Amino acid sequence: MKKVITYGTFDLFHIGHLNILKRAKSLGDYLVVAVSTDEFNTGKHKQCVYPYSHRAQIVEAIRCVDEVIPETSWEQKIDDIRKHSIDIFVIGEDWAGKFDFLKDYCEVVYLPRTKSISTTSIRNTVKNGKSIT
Ligand code: CTP
Repeated sequence: MKKVITYGTFDLFHIGHLNILKRAKSLGDYLVVAVSTDEFNTGKHKQCVYPYSHRAQIVEAIRCVDEVIPETSWEQKIDDIRKHSIDIFVIGEDWAGKFDFLKDYCEVVYLPRTKSISTTSIRNTVKNGKSIT
């Protein structure tokens, strides 16, 4: 069985999130998603709309997701890969090259992002009373 892992905040779950999770799962048989905790986000000066428990439960309910784990630090990835016997690490291409050091432990794949959507753009769109097209 091929196991895939990916990481993210997944706040205000949107189509770009769904697309990357489906593409990640298609690379293997079992998908683990590490969702950043509120404490970890605070350390990054990032404030989510939804708390960790909501974001984790929403991601866990997506059909292609098999398991959700908390992401509490930048350094946990090698331990996660070992502990969960991960074969492929997947992340959006906005991180291209940043995780090449994980190639000593598993395959590393950078996937293209879905165009024209992000949590940040949704927050701005809602603030301005507009809709996503
Ligand atoms: N992602 C994607 N396409 C998008 C937005 C996100 O493929 N349009 C991917 C990211 O590359 C990452 C995962 O989804 O691998 C989780 O991204 P996250 O940072 O939670 O979402 P963003 O919408 O990019 O959030 P923000 O605007 O806060 O950066």
